[in-house]
Amino acid sequence: MLKKFQEALNKRKEAGVLRTLKPKLSGIDFYSNDYLGLAGNEELQSQLLMKVQANPVLLSGSSGSRLISGNSNITDETENYIAEQHQYSAALLFSSGYNANLALFSTLPDRHDTIIVDEQIHRSVHDACKMSHAKKIKFRHNDLEDLESILKKQNGSSYIAIESLYSMDGDFAPLQEIATLAKKYNSALIVDEAHAFGVFGYGLIEKHQLQNDVFAALMTYGKALGAHGAAVLCNETVKCYLVNFASPFIYTTAAQDFLWISIKNGYEFLKLKPELSKKLHQNIKIFRDQNIETISSEVSPIQAIMVPDNHQLRNLQITLSCNGFLTYAVHSPTVKTGAERLRICLHSFNTEEDIAGLTGIIKEFI
Ligand SMILES: Cc1ncc(COP(=O)(O)O)c(C=O)c1O
Repeated sequence: MLKKFQEALNKRKEAGVLRTLKPKLSGIDFYSNDYLGLAGNEELQSQLLMKVQANPVLLSGSSGSRLISGNSNITDETENYIAEQHQYSAALLFSSGYNANLALFSTLPDRHDTIIVDEQIHRSVHDACKMSHAKKIKFRHNDLEDLESILKKQNGSSYIAIESLYSMDGDFAPLQEIATLAKKYNSALIVDEAHAFGVFGYGLIEKHQLQNDVFAALMTYGKALGAHGAAVLCNETVKCYLVNFASPFIYTTAAQDFLWISIKNGYEFLKLKPELSKKLHQNIKIFRDQNIETISSEVSPIQAIMVPDNHQLRNLQITLSCNGFLTYAVHSPTVKTGAERLRICLHSFNTEEDIAGLTGIIKEFI
């Protein structure tokens, strides 16, 4: 067994794509999901500190799963608050977005159903599909015709899985058009808003008021909210079904109340600080004004620059890092061969000077 593992690792090493864990790097952040700088926001941290000082029990371990000893008034209150904020009738908290997606797609579709996924959907959905007994069909990324041709052929129930903003290409799903197709073919639309939440207010479902057309939505709190955890937004029946049948919800210890308090506090903080997202969008525009060719939307905080060669991509990333710029190079096999890219994440806290420095080096390379 170990020989087999070692061979696989050696193969990755030879290809220059071995993954290793490194200490947090210091440098100018163009790679994290901390779009609004909330992960290290001192004002937010001191608010949380005060809450903990006033009520140290928040730091207690939850002591069990939500269905045994791990539920609390704070969990329930936070769920009600989140549901109300998003204008859904119910919300169900999870300790991560990965777990929430596992719960949704491994539980809701049964063996007679089909899960129709955008080919760029997050890995957590693919993993959930492996746990499910439903059939999975991929449709071409953001391709409405392809999606409709698949929907037309369905006899039984189907689910459509999309992200509102895709994390690898930095482009948006045609959300309203997909919602219309879902309605036409009576398919249940599930939208992952991991990268849109906080960057575009409470997300794009809220922006376009599609709550009635989106069967379930996922908000994650490890990105723009700078915390951790996730919520599924849905109706009471779906929530009750997940609580009863979703293994990733049932068979795990609940998070501490501190996490739920941090999430609620994060929502309140977002409401009071619209200038953070305004600054982020100004920085996106400054980046785009540099006229670097990307495959991403012009208003996306994720900008992907195609460098379709692992070796050249590595050189670019190393040069940037030697100059203090932290970026993320997405090599194959994470993406298909030929689709390797440099992924830039913009933040509210990046300065105009940082962006000029970063783009100056990139322009010399491509
Ligand atoms: C689109 C998408 N969905 C779900 C997740 C998982 O969320 P979490 O990091 O909270 O587990 C991620 C994070 O990488 C993501 O990008």
